[in-house]
This record gives sequence, structure tokens and C-alpha cells, in this order.
Amino acid sequence: MRMNLLDLIARQPAPEPWIEGEKIPWNEPAFSERMLREHLSQAHDLASRRSERIERHVEWIDRVLLGGNASAILDLGCGPGLYALRLNRRGHTVTGIDFSPASIAYARQQAAEAGAACEFVEADIRRAKVGVDRFDLAMLIFGEFNVFHPDDARAILRRVHEALTHDGVIVLEVHTLDAVRRTGEAATSWYGSNGGLFSPKPHLLLTENFWLPERQIAIERYFVIDAESGEVTRHAAAMQAYSEEQLRTLLSETGFAEVTIHPSLYGVDDVGQADFYVIVGKKDGRRTVDDGRQTTDVDDDGADNERLRKDVIQQALLFDGIPRAG
Ligand SMILES: C[S@@+](CC[C@H](N)C(=O)[O-])C[C@H]1O[C@@H](n2cnc3c(N)ncnc32)[C@H](O)[C@@H]1O
Repeated sequence: MRMNLLDLIARQPAPEPWIEGEKIPWNEPAFSERMLREHLSQAHDLASRRSERIERHVEWIDRVLLGGNASAILDLGCGPGLYALRLNRRGHTVTGIDFSPASIAYARQQAAEAGAACEFVEADIRRAKVGVDRFDLAMLIFGEFNVFHPDDARAILRRVHEALTHDGVIVLEVHTLDAVRRTGEAATSWYGSNGGLFSPKPHLLLTENFWLPERQIAIERYFVIDAESGEVTRHAAAMQAYSEEQLRTLLSETGFAEVTIHPSLYGVDDVGQADFYVIVGKKDGRRTVDDGRQTTDVDDDGADNERLRKDVIQQALLFDGIPRAG
């Protein structure tokens, strides 16, 4: 949302999660180009993990979750296809869905050059057609699950359940409850940049966070102030925290069984990624999924409200090379 400085001063003191603000522009072409650079960066693990870590994740998914059997995989929020291409090299066919145009273009180009059996779809994963009984494994990693409104998260699980084969596996890598709370409780901060992730022009980025303890939701607000014009662009984002028990219940209610928790996508502790853990469930073919809110398969124009991860802010700071002020 576009504002001016007076609007910024008069802003609502306590925002409602998922209501306020425009989307974080994952799917805005210029933003997605800038973000793509960060996905591919080997200097940090903030937009995507660095190659070495991804290799280990892929090895665990292939060996432990799929038993090395050639499988059909659905990668939701696939970014630039860094997992998909590696999984394909291990004999799997992969469909990746993401609403970042630059990421999907990059993934398609890489797949074409490698002659890889991967399909990349530019779409919102809440609405993309994922079909029925198609995939042996579906993954949604790097904490993106927490970002969705709980109704959308539940709807995604139901759609994945439908899209999986009768004993297909879902893999969610989520933020720990503590990590979400820390995000919500983070202090207000700002930095100045000559051009970076949020804007190619000189700007200030003001960030304020909120934690709603009863609802276990963190809210983040970003105000990008153009240094020349003073124009303000607001982004807002929210993140739902889940306890392990809540996630187990959610998976059970959406038709998954044999739910297991893993400390990381390595299968063991990964000290560098302690804010995340992994929950795996198996489609329970005997069960009918809950009858919560239904979603409709529609063609997607890629537009939607979304948040930008705290990590990306950190990455913006790293990338812009401007010290953070308190
Ligand atoms: C943190 S990145 C992780 C990318 C990739 N999974 C990886 O680990 O390299 C999250 C990705 O989810 C995508 N994303 C977020 N919300 C989405 C939505 N509603 N529909 C499609 N893609 C979405 C973003 O564009 C971004 O590429």
C-alpha cells in the first residue's frame, strides 16, 4: 500500500494479522528478480539454503523418505527449483509451483538446459491445480507453511492430501513456536540503503513487529520510505505459530497418519537451522478428510497477499551492507 509520512505517523497501533497491508511483492517482477539473486547467493542461507545444505536435504528426502525409489514429487513454493533439479538428478520427476516469476523462469531455464523431467508452474499454491492421486511426496519447506492464514494452511493440506497417491507422504518444514514468538517480539528497527531488496533506489526500511500471545501469531510491518520523494510503501505479514501437538492434530484432521517429527531436513539436529523442524505424514487412504472450508481449482494469476520472511529482512541487511540501527 502506498502512503505518505503522515499516514505512517497515524498508522493503526495494533494491526490485525493477514488483514492489513498489501502483499509482500514476491510475485512482482522487479522484486522477484532482486529476490532471485538472494535465492542463488552462496553468501547466506536466508532466501534459499546454500548448495551444500540443499544437497544434504535432498539426500535425506531421497534416501529416507522415498527409500531411493523413483517418485513423483510436488514442491510447493519451489523458488528457483534448487531442490527440484537435484531431486530430478536422483531419478525423481518434480512439479514445482511458485508465484515468483523470476524464480520460475530461472527454474525452467535450468531444467531445459539439463533436460530435466521437471515442470515449473507460476501460480499461487492456494489455487494452483495440483490434481488427484498424482504425487508420491509433496513438500512445503523453509517455514512457508506458517505464513499462511490457518484456513489457507488447512486448505493446502486438504489439497495435498487429494494430490498424493494412496500412501503418499507430506513433508512440512515449519518454524518452531519459539522462533515465531521471537519474530513477533523483535524490537522496532530501521536501516538505510542505497538500493537493495526492497527498492532499487535509496530508501529507509522501518520494521515493527507484534506478538499476539493468545493467538500465537507474529505480525511484521515494513515501511519502505523512498529517500527522494518521501513516499512510503507498506507491507505487512503474519506468521502463525504451531506447537508440535497442534500440527499433529492438523495433519490428522486433514487425513494424514503415521506422523513423525524430525529436527531438520537432515533428519538430525542442524545447529544452523534450529528455528525450523520437520513434520512428515503419510496419506491415510482409509480416512475421509475433514469438511472444512472448500477451495476451488481456478487458474491463478499469481497475485496474492503474502508476507516476507524475517530472514529476508536480515538478508536485505546483509545484502545492503548497511548497519542496522536500533
Ligand atoms: C523462503 S522461499 C523458499 C523457496 C524454496 N522452497 C527453497 O527452499 O529454496 C519461499 C518461496 O515460497 C514462495 N511462495 C510464498 N507464498 C506463495 C504462494 N502463496 N504461492 C506460491 N508461492 C509462494 C515464494 O515465492 C518463495 O519462492
